[in-house]
Amino acid sequence: MITIALSKGRIFDETLPLLRAAGILTPDHPGNSRKLILATSRRDVRLIIVRAADVPTYVQYGAADLGVAGKDVLDEHGGQGLYQPLDLGIACCRMMVAVSKDFDYGRATRQRARLRVATKYVQTAREHFAAKGMHVDLIKLYGSMELAPLTGLADAIVDLVSTGNTLKANNLKAVEEITPISARLVINQAALKLKRTEIQPLLDAFAGAAA
Ligand code: ATP
Ligand code: PRP
Repeated sequence: MITIALSKGRIFDETLPLLRAAGILTPDHPGNSRKLILATSRRDVRLIIVRAADVPTYVQYGAADLGVAGKDVLDEHGGQGLYQPLDLGIACCRMMVAVSKDFDYGRATRQRARLRVATKYVQTAREHFAAKGMHVDLIKLYGSMELAPLTGLADAIVDLVSTGNTLKANNLKAVEEITPISARLVINQAALKLKRTEIQPLLDAFAGAAA
C-alpha cells in the first residue's frame, strides 16, 4: 500500500490533475467529506488528509510514503528524512516581507531599527533577517498575519503573497521578496528504497504531468 499525504484546499485541488495523470482517481473530496483516509481507483494507493504544515511530519516518520507540501512548509520543517525530487510547479506564490502602506521600511533598515516581525514562518524570517544583519523580534502567529501591523502588534510581517489582493485590502505593501514558493513532492527516504518498484512509476507520472 502506498499512502500519499495531502492537505485540503489548494494543495489537494492542484494535485488532483497530477494524480489523474498517474491513473489515481478518488470519488471523495475533502471539501464535501469528513473522511481523512480516501480510497482511490488504485487498490494499492490511498490518500490521507492532514494539515498543510503536518505533511512533512507524516512523510518523515513513514506514516505516509509520499506527500505534497509547499516550500514554505518544508523550509520551516527542515526536510529531515525527506527526499524532495520534484518541484510540482503548483500552489505558486512568494514569501514576502510586508508593512503598512505608510511605513518607511527602507529608512528603518538603513537606520538598523530593531523591528517587530509577526509571522507563521519563524525559521524563514529568522534566516532572512540574520542574512541581512538585521536584529528583529519575531512574534509567532498562526494566521491572519495581515492584522499585526494594523493593530500595532508588529512593524512588519513575513507571509505568502500571490495576487497581492490580501495586502491591498488591508492597506499593506510588500517591501521585500524572500523566496519564490511552490509545492514539492516529498518522499520518505526509507520508503523510496523499500518500495522503489511501486513509487518510481508514480514519480515518473508526476514528473511528466508537472513538466
Ligand atoms: P492549514 O489550513 O492546513 O493550516 P494553510 O492555510 O497554510 O494550512 P493553504 O492555504 O491551503 O493551507 O496553503 C497550502 C500551501 O499552498 C502553502 O503551504 C503554500 O505553499 C501555498 N499557498 C498558500 N497561500 C497561497 C496563495 N495565496 N497562492 C498560492 N499558493 C499559496
Ligand atoms: C494566503 C496567505 C495570504 C494570502 C495571499 O492565505 O497567507 O493571506 O494567501 O494571497 P493573495 O496575495 O492572492 O491575496 P490563504 O488564502 O491560504 O488563507 P489562510 O492562510 O487563511 O489559509
